Amino acid sequence: MSKHALRIIMVVASVVLMAGVGFVVKALLIPKSFGLYGPYRADAVDEETQRVLRHGTNASCFGCHQYEATIHLKGNHKTISCEFCHGTYSDHVSNGRKIATLPVKKGDEITTLCLRCHNTEIKARSTMVIKTVGVPDHLKKQNVKLTHTCNQCHHVHAPLKYINEAKKITGLMEVK
Ligand code: HEC
Ligand code: HEC
Ligand code: HEC
Ligand code: HEC
Repeated sequence: MSKHALRIIMVVASVVLMAGVGFVVKALLIPKSFGLYGPYRADAVDEETQRVLRHGTNASCFGCHQYEATIHLKGNHKTISCEFCHGTYSDHVSNGRKIATLPVKKGDEITTLCLRCHNTEIKARSTMVIKTVGVPDHLKKQNVKLTHTCNQCHHVHAPLKYINEAKKITGLMEVK
C-alpha cells in the first residue's frame, strides 16, 4: 500500500469514527419522549400541567377585595393586572385564605411603579398603546412641587377618578 492510500484510509476512518461517536452522543443526549408529536419533548406537556399555579386573575382578587374591585373595574386601569402592582396571588392566598401580606407601595415607590408603564422615556413601544408623560415636565405643567408623587392626583386603581371629579366640580367637564 502506498503512503498516499494509507493517508486516505486514515482520513476516511477518522471521519467514520467521528460520525459514529456523534451518533452515539446524540442518541444519549436526546430525551426519551423527544419527537413523539413534533420537534419537542412530549413529556414536557405533562410536566407543565403539573405545575402549581402561582398567579390568579383579577377576578381571583375581587371576591375578597370588593372595594378595590368596584373602583378598578370602572377606571382606565381596568385592564391592568392587580398582580403587576401587588405581587403574586400564591404569596398571599392559599386554600381560599390569606396566608401573608403583599407589598403595598408608598410615596416615591408609587411614582417609580407608574413610570414603568407611563414614562415617555420608554421608546420601545408605540405611544398609541399607552399614554405617557415626561417627568418632571408633567408636574411643571400642573404647577406643583416636583416632589409630588403620582398618586397625589391620580387614584392608583382608577387614575382619572379624582381628575374627572375635579373637572365636574369646576365645570370643566360635562356631567353625563
Ligand atoms: C397600577 C398599579 C396598581 C394596580 C393595577 C392595582 N393596585 Fe392596588 N394599590 C396600588 C398602590 C400603589 C396602592 C397603595 C397606595 C394607595 O392606596 O393609594 C394600592 C392599594 C391597594 C390596597 C390597599 C392596601 C392597604 O393596606 O392600604 C388593596 C387591598 C389593593 N390595592 C388591591 C388591589 C386589587 C384587588 C387590584 C386589582 C383589582 C389592584 N389593587 C390593582 C397599586 C395598584
Ligand atoms: C381569600 C381572600 C383574599 C383574596 C382572594 C385576596 N386577598 Fe388581598 N387581602 C385579604 C385580606 C383579609 C387582607 C387584609 C385586610 C384588608 O386589607 O382588606 C388583604 C390585604 C391585601 C393587600 C394589603 C396588604 C396586605 O397584604 O395586607 C393587598 C395589596 C392585597 N390584599 C392584594 C390582593 C390581590 C392583588 C389579590 C389577587 C391576586 C388578593 N389580594 C386576593 C384577603 C384576600
Ligand atoms: C402595567 C402598566 C401600567 C402601570 C404600572 C400603570 N399604568 Fe396607568 N395605564 C396603563 C394602561 C394600559 C392604561 C390604558 C391606556 C391608556 O389610556 O394609556 C392606563 C391609563 C392611565 C391613565 C389614563 C390615561 C388616559 O387619559 O386615558 C392615567 C392618568 C394613568 N394610567 C396613570 C397611572 C398612574 C398614576 C400609575 C401609577 C399608580 C399608573 N398609571 C400605573 C398601564 C399602566
Ligand atoms: C398635580 C397633579 C398631578 C400629578 C402629581 C400627576 N399628574 Fe398625571 N395628570 C394630571 C392631570 C390633571 C391630567 C389630565 C390632563 C387632562 O385631562 O387634560 C393628567 C394626565 C396624565 C396622563 C394622561 C396623559 C395624556 O396624554 O392624556 C398620564 C399617563 C399621567 N397623568 C401619568 C402621571 C404619572 C405617571 C405621574 C407621576 C409621575 C403623574 N401623572 C402625576 C395631574 C397630575
